Amino acid sequence: MTTNVERVARLRRMREEALQGGGPVRVERQHTWGKLTARERIDLLVDPGSFVEMGAFVTHRSTEFGLADQHFLGDGVVTGHATIDGRAVFLFSQDFTVFGGSLSGAYAEKICKVMDLAMEVGAPVIGLNDSGGARIQEGVTSLAGYAWIFTRNVLASGVVPQISVIMGPCAGGAVYSPAITDFTVMVEGTSYMFVTGPNVIKAVTHEEIDADRLGGAIVHTTTSGVAHLAAPDEGVAMDHVRRLLSHLPQNNLEDPPIVATKDPTDRQDAALESVVPDDPSRPYDMHDVITRVIDDADFFEIQPGWAANIIVGFARLGGRSVGIVAQQPAVLAGALDIDASVKGARFVRTCDAFNVPLVTFIDVPGFMPGVNQEHGGIIKHGAKLLYAYCEATVPKLAVITRKAYGGAYDVMSSKHVRGDINFAWPTAQIAVMGAEGAVNIIFKDAISKADDPVAEHKRLVDEYRAEFDHPYVAASLGYIDEVILPSETRPRLIRALEMLKDKRQVNPRKKNGNIPL
Ligand code: HXC
Repeated sequence: MTTNVERVARLRRMREEALQGGGPVRVERQHTWGKLTARERIDLLVDPGSFVEMGAFVTHRSTEFGLADQHFLGDGVVTGHATIDGRAVFLFSQDFTVFGGSLSGAYAEKICKVMDLAMEVGAPVIGLNDSGGARIQEGVTSLAGYAWIFTRNVLASGVVPQISVIMGPCAGGAVYSPAITDFTVMVEGTSYMFVTGPNVIKAVTHEEIDADRLGGAIVHTTTSGVAHLAAPDEGVAMDHVRRLLSHLPQNNLEDPPIVATKDPTDRQDAALESVVPDDPSRPYDMHDVITRVIDDADFFEIQPGWAANIIVGFARLGGRSVGIVAQQPAVLAGALDIDASVKGARFVRTCDAFNVPLVTFIDVPGFMPGVNQEHGGIIKHGAKLLYAYCEATVPKLAVITRKAYGGAYDVMSSKHVRGDINFAWPTAQIAVMGAEGAVNIIFKDAISKADDPVAEHKRLVDEYRAEFDHPYVAASLGYIDEVILPSETRPRLIRALEMLKDKRQVNPRKKNGNIPL
């Protein structure tokens, strides 16, 4: 008969075995590649000692292709819950040392279990991805497993924050789980994401490229926009995750945490008065405006390397998290092109889903002209940003620093798309289009018939500027709530945010809106 001492000893042995992953040789190989193991990564991410594992003894059920004799406790994924900064999170960490982190049916069930719990509890889900994809020996069971996860990703979208960290391979259909989550962080040099890898591409299109240049962290944070943040190593990737969570609520029914600041709420900054150049075509760096206004100049920019003509990211004002959306006049004059529209729309919707108020800094000459833009669908992509702002019910504050032209004026959190408090600096220019273009259209005949067409054109441009290149027409119509001194932007935004903190706005009931995709 088995004694209780033996039973306890067995449990201790099994616990010990589960910690071994795929064994010391494979663990050593993982370290040689500069990658941590699944458990080491969890330790790096969460509050010390807070991780509680679930399903450590789960094994696969395959009997095919020699798998009947190969069982690793946990089956290649470590799942459970923990705290980060004292707040609950659910996580899964794929263990490349076990069957290359490949996904079996049992493995998928473990992930689904923590996702289901996260939804019931109302807490974020963090996925640490390092996997060879579908476990080949499991066939369709593995494909089903992915689909169970995708379905949960979609149902959890907008309910609890979901963050993916890519720390190794992530290929084939497996990429679609991170793609649905709110944020994707990639580690430079060791991670890649692609639907079809270099070998398939070479066979089909005869293009030659390696995995890193096809789908590495730099590519996806600068060229494709698939990922939000790149990290030089796994430690920095975890810092990104913690910083993201610090700006988000636990779920869509809560507000983001308030973080005390020593930065005075009534602080004014005289340097803001000279940020905007006199010459309307001269660029300036909108980061200067953002960092001078927010708490402690602490701006967490998201997707800084992609579509840099629009800036998005998290900051705090008077301790409250805000999502900043801003044109960048230093890149493409801050015009809205396809990528900028998509980047902005996604961020606005993320903030709206998680009750993060939006603060928009506007200096936009309009949508980007060009055959490529038109043929690439700037109409439907630009409409995404418009849709996102119209739909958003979080507090929406806006500051027009310089240009707010044409349709882009409407789109960028205008009063007409339910902006709550809209400020303009005295340097604001609110018009259907810039003076040169407008005069060329409406005074075409007059200019061509003038004795001195050049002088007449200049005179009309000056006249147009005097008439329209200021914020006072919009202010007289109530479309701007107040024209403020640039130096007082911070206190004005903080007071507006405080006033709006209990804002509740409800959209019409519907199954789902039909955002142009
Ligand atoms: C089962 C796998 C596996 C997989 C790797 N392994 N991928 N086992 N299913 N998909 C195992 C290997 O047999 C090996 O086992 C260990 O993991 C490490 O793999 P290596 O090849 O030795 O490592 P490395 O050289 O670093 O190459 C890593 C890799 C490569 C690039 C990921 O293993 C690879 O190409 N794997 C196949 C990837 C793939 O095609 N997956 C299916 C994608 S389609 P031992 O015992 O030696 O340690 C897909 C569909 C998802 O995922 C659909 C969702 C809808």
